Amino acid sequence: MHPSAHDRVRPLRWTGTALEVLDQRLLPDRCAYRRCTTAAKVAEAIAAMQVRGAPAIGIAAAYGVVLAVCQRFREAPQTWRQAIEADFERLARSRPTAVNLFWALERMRRVVLAAEGDPCPAALAEAERIHAEDVAANRRMGELGAEVIGDLSGILTHCNTGSLATGGFGTALGVIRTLWQRQPGFTVHATETRPWNQGARLTLWELEQDGIPAMLIADSAAAFLMRQERVQWVVVGADRIAANGDVANKIGTYALAVAARRHGVKLMVVAPTSTIDWNTPHGGLIPIEERDPAELLPAYYQREDSLAGAWNPVFDVTPADLISAIVTEKGVVRPGRDTLETLRD
Ligand code: MRU
Repeated sequence: MHPSAHDRVRPLRWTGTALEVLDQRLLPDRCAYRRCTTAAKVAEAIAAMQVRGAPAIGIAAAYGVVLAVCQRFREAPQTWRQAIEADFERLARSRPTAVNLFWALERMRRVVLAAEGDPCPAALAEAERIHAEDVAANRRMGELGAEVIGDLSGILTHCNTGSLATGGFGTALGVIRTLWQRQPGFTVHATETRPWNQGARLTLWELEQDGIPAMLIADSAAAFLMRQERVQWVVVGADRIAANGDVANKIGTYALAVAARRHGVKLMVVAPTSTIDWNTPHGGLIPIEERDPAELLPAYYQREDSLAGAWNPVFDVTPADLISAIVTEKGVVRPGRDTLETLRD
């Protein structure tokens, strides 16, 4: 089967003058791209979760830098270097947890500041490299992850980690795609992923585009699913991996990890090395985004005199010792047996 047979979705399109972002807030009902012509518009699209998923956020920010650099150089060829600092800051403020954002901005900063003359072509080339490298990493992780898993009858995934969350193909969903190409017929279970419903709205949609059947479960059904021995692996992505292997990922991942350990189910984390934050020694130091309680709280309670409130952290941290395998494009690490250091350049 052709490797692209199960990979038809692209969340980001560069047109030459703009970044088109597939508005993921509208899916699965509507498939519409929004045109971003400035870094500020890209930052807004990230903050509003029109584009989401750690690698996709990094790639979008890289194209945001391209838009900023080209505009600033056009406006002020002598002083553009000072002017783009505001754009870098604005993009960096868009979301706090996914380290791919800061990793991509740093990579862009190095290239852009080293450019002589017009920095625009070098910036675009670097953003396109970041984008292409991500798709290649996903394909490699798909192969590596599928080899580790081997035969199975059921798998559970959380949030959306597919083409929509990356440059294309996906991290955890890339492993599921690869497994499906090799040995179709197992059951893919996807959690709803409250409160934003990435699983229900996005993962099911992506899998349907690719002809892969999926079974939706409420987040709260996961432990019971495991108890019934319907899944052998839980496969998730990551937003930031600390140097000791602790993993920040979509809220609910920690609960899945605890339930998986209780039931003898294995947990695989699939993420490119751009998701590893070597400067953060352990997961307790990872900044965890808390979004507007209104995303969680029913409208009825959003009155000034209401006694009800909501706590809305959108990521949590899973300790390394609950993880069976961390799959990156540079190899597989089994926490407890080997360390992430083996992946360092
Ligand atoms: O809030 P989101 O939708 O940006 O969160 C996305 C996730 O938590 C994904 O699991 C993670 O980014 C890995 S995706 C390749």
